[in-house]
Order: sequence, then C-alpha cells, then structure tokens
Amino acid sequence: MPPCSTVILGTGSYAPERVLTNAELSRMVDTSDEWIVTRSGIRERRIAAANESTSDMGVQAARRALADAKLTAADIDLLVVATVTPDLQMPAAACFIQQKLGLPGAAACFDVNAACSGFIYALDTACAMLSSGRYRRALVVGVEKLSSIVDWKDRTTCVLFGDGAGAVVVGTTDQPDVGLIGTRLGMISDSVDLLCIPNGGSNAPATPASIAAGSHFLKMKGKEVFKLAVRGMDEAARDILEHHHLRADQIALVIPHQANLRIIEAISQYLELPMERFFVNVDRYGNTSAASIPIALDEARRGGRIKAGDLTLLVAFGAGLTYGSALIRW
Ligand code: ACO
Repeated sequence: MPPCSTVILGTGSYAPERVLTNAELSRMVDTSDEWIVTRSGIRERRIAAANESTSDMGVQAARRALADAKLTAADIDLLVVATVTPDLQMPAAACFIQQKLGLPGAAACFDVNAACSGFIYALDTACAMLSSGRYRRALVVGVEKLSSIVDWKDRTTCVLFGDGAGAVVVGTTDQPDVGLIGTRLGMISDSVDLLCIPNGGSNAPATPASIAAGSHFLKMKGKEVFKLAVRGMDEAARDILEHHHLRADQIALVIPHQANLRIIEAISQYLELPMERFFVNVDRYGNTSAASIPIALDEARRGGRIKAGDLTLLVAFGAGLTYGSALIRW
C-alpha cells in the first residue's frame, strides 16, 4: 500500500481555571513582575487544581478536538500522548485518557517523552503509524501538570512553567499537498544534565534525603539552555525549509514552543521573519512543555490565524536537549 498523506481534522485545548500572576509569585519567592516580564515575557500561567490530573486535562482537550473534527471516541484507533508529567510513572497517561474518553479497547495507547518537543515527536509517530495503513484515525495529545514537578521555592524555575493541554485529531487524505508535509527530529548531544529531574528515576530512586534536598524537582541551567534552544530551533526550522525547498517567507505562521519571548524573538531575527508571523501566547500560559504547541495551534486556528492553503511551521526544543520541527499545509 503506498503511503498516504496525514491531515489534522480537528484541534482542541484546555487550560485550568486557576490563574497565577507574576504579582502573586512575587509574594511567594524573591522575584518581581518586571524581572519575569523582561527576561521571559511571561505575565501569568495556569495551575491545575490539586485533584485535577494530567489525564483529566488531556481528556478535556481531546474532547474539544474530537468535537472540532465532528468525530467521536469510537472513531479513534490510536492515541499518542506527549508528556513528562504522567498521572503515575506507570501505566502511561494514555491509558488513563483512553479509559476516561471511552476509546475502543482495540485502540493503541502509549506515551512519548521528548519534553517540550514531545508534541512534534508524538505527531510524527502518529502520522507514520497512520501512513502505514494499519490505523485510521489518531488522537495526539500534549499535556502537562508541570506544577507538580516545579520547586516552588526555586525562583530560577518556578516563574517559568504552567499547566495545560492541547490535542489534535489526525486522519488520512488522498488530496495531494495538504496535511503534514514533513518533520525533522533531533537532539543536541551532551546536554542531558542542563534540564532534568535528578532523582526519582531508576538510576537514582527517591530517598528521604533526596526528597529533603528537593532533587525530585525539575532543575535547569537556564542560560545554557537558552543558547542551545535558540541554536536547536533555528537549525530545526532551517533544515526542514531547505529539505522542502522553501523560503522562510513562504511560511504564513510559525508556531514555536512557548518557553520564552526572547527565544522566539531570536528565532524571528535568525529566520528574518517578522514577529507578526509568529504565534505567541507565552505571556498567558508560560512554558507548558509538551502542551505548548498544541494549545498555541488550537488558539491560532480558532482565532482565524490559519487559513486554507497556508503553510504552518511548528518548531520546538526541550529537555534532552531534543528539538523538532513540522510543516503543515492547511
Ligand atoms: N527573579 C528575580 N531574579 C532572578 C530570578 C527571578 N525569578 N531568577 C533568576 N534571577 C537572578 C539570578 O539569580 C541572576 O542573579 P545574579 O546575576 O545576581 O546571579 C540574575 O537574575 C540573572 O539570571 P540569569 O539566569 O542570567 O537570567 P537570564 O537572563 O539568563 O534569564 C531565564 C533566565 C529566563 C531562565 C533564561 O535563561 C531562559 O529562558 N532560559 C531558557 C529556559 C527554557 O527555555 N527552558 C525550557 C526548556 S524546555 C523543557 O523541556 C521544559
């Protein structure tokens, strides 16, 4: 069977109700609205309720994506969830989402962990599985409850992250030149320790001492990550454009991972593409890791920023340091 094109049939997103502003954060740690806005562009972020799980948020986004695609759970035979904050370490968050959504028992369900690049990795995986002809329709969810792995006493990280979920429904089409045109995935070697959770994995199980030291929380060397993030995103964007013989100015809208406004501005300068061509919502959500691109994609579509025939470039980087890009024609 020849490979077929994969196309996004619907998008959805979900943000928890609770808004945590910079002003509130400045009463929790030694920081200020001015510092956070100047260094990151973030003004507020959403925080999940204590009893609201990663899968609960993923289900909300998935339901909205299914409604947008005018499909039901019964139409889905593949669920891929990108997350670094699953409900439990085992089983996968996808298993909880499958159960809560009522997907058919025969649907394949698994998680992908590529941190903030996770959604692009998951989308590529789902599209490859659909192109094989062995699956018909996929739900791809990017969801995070980062508030559960952030050290709320560490001002260098806690101001940057937030919770949320985004989802897309993917199917196949015979129409040429629409849908996922290509992807580029990669990783910058020797950078695993720049952004990680030191304890709690199989290499260093949590102990009373490690918990007391807070080493089961996310740790980041922000300055180094910043430099490599700009390099990784620029390379991922350039490579995919070159591979498809496209110029940057042919892209109608770039949907970058929303980590820091200054990183997005640097990419805009490197690609010589004005900021108007970049979708930005980092001011309202902060960095939601794997959820950041699908939330932005859903907001861009619903806000009329994406029209039929447009070329959209998704580009991300994350812990690893992984990076990825994807080109979509609508
Ligand atoms: N409030 C006030 N001061 C602060 C804060 C804060 N919240 N955080 C740090 N500072 C201080 C530092 O202690 C330092 O003080 P010093 O000069 O006395 O030592 C000063 O501010 C400058 O700190 P820098 O780290 O040099 O600030 P920088 O301009 O690099 O900005 C930031 C920091 C925002 C973290 C930036 O480096 C960044 O965005 N890095 C990339 C992070 C990122 O994108 N991570 C996501 C990866 S994706 C994933 O997989 C999760």
